[in-house]
Amino acid sequence: MKFEISRRGLLQTGALAAVAGFVPTRFAIGNTAKVKVGLMLPYSGTYAGLGEAIVNGFKQAMAEGGGKLGGREVEYVPLDDESNPGKAPENANKLVSGDKVDFLVGTVHSGVAMGMVKVVGESGTIMVIPNAGANAATGAMCVPNVFRTSFSNWQSTWPMGKVAIDRGMRKVVTITWKYAAGAEMVGSFVESYTKLGGTVIQQIEVPFPNDEFQAYLTQIAAAKPDGVFTFFAGAGALKFVKDYAAAGLNSVQLMGPGFLTDGVLAGQGAAAEGILTTLHYADALDTPANKAFRAGYKAAYNKEADVYAVQGFDAAQVIMKGMAAVKGDASARPDLIAAMEKAEIVSPRGKFTFSKAHNPIQDIYLRQVKGGKEVVLGVAHAALADPAKGCKAV
Ligand code: BEZ
Repeated sequence: MKFEISRRGLLQTGALAAVAGFVPTRFAIGNTAKVKVGLMLPYSGTYAGLGEAIVNGFKQAMAEGGGKLGGREVEYVPLDDESNPGKAPENANKLVSGDKVDFLVGTVHSGVAMGMVKVVGESGTIMVIPNAGANAATGAMCVPNVFRTSFSNWQSTWPMGKVAIDRGMRKVVTITWKYAAGAEMVGSFVESYTKLGGTVIQQIEVPFPNDEFQAYLTQIAAAKPDGVFTFFAGAGALKFVKDYAAAGLNSVQLMGPGFLTDGVLAGQGAAAEGILTTLHYADALDTPANKAFRAGYKAAYNKEADVYAVQGFDAAQVIMKGMAAVKGDASARPDLIAAMEKAEIVSPRGKFTFSKAHNPIQDIYLRQVKGGKEVVLGVAHAALADPAKGCKAV
């Protein structure tokens, strides 16, 4: 509904306000408007499934929480970022300056997220990252108005170095897409693995989002490693695992961050058997919060939830907590940020709090595919905090 206020009405309101000593605040007026939430995510390409799961998880948490933010209706503004870092500043600006979103939620791809962080670093818009692990987002580029409900790339793979050594892998090959996420996840693994005495005999980089792996698999077979560490996700991960098995490499232990199998395990089928992964979530976590979340997701979308849905769910949770604390006043940014910083999130992954740089401090699970299911072998590293290298702003 549109409010038409006549000049006479305005004068009367002014007179009334003067008599009553009441001055309507910006918030009192703005409170009638919907809260705008920008959902800048990949809705096409190799990461489309991840974007969809994040939106589903976000909307599930909103629906379960009553559908409003601080008592206000919500308007979603979706934008397909195409996992294209080159378009990230322009796309983020469209939402921040054009649509004037109150919150920017995004994204999946580390390179795109870094472009978004630059934009909100200038505008002050509160941004919640529901996946992208770019270390800099809660490291060198950190700003008080950016939160992450997922992981840092460093965090997701650091514990795997010890796992590989403990399992007798003395020489490994790494293979990943050539962009920030791959470089940082491999970098973190290599650092922890070599510190413990492991040797990396070859590092292979594949242009993003290429999924023609045959030539690289031939190189891996020739190198005869004890294990292969890899980061691929979404449709690329689905294909890599199938191609790896088809190349007859399943006798060489395949390992990586859990993105290698999460959300795509059913499609990978028998090819995924035995894969070892570390991640801050596992479908099989036997907690009331995880069971309720998974049941709610299945009921709403007729699909199994995955880690991306969890991260979207928790992005909504932290925004809901912030907006409840400021009673819907999205313009009260310092108070909103303070409330979000203090939030303890009861996540399907387990409870977590935020580090000073606004990254989750969380358990990293060790998982293995057995009989077509992701089995939790244990906690590879409890309450792991990202080192937030270079973060000075918070
Ligand atoms: C990233 O680009 O940060 C990313 C993409 C997919 C899965 C995990 C991380």
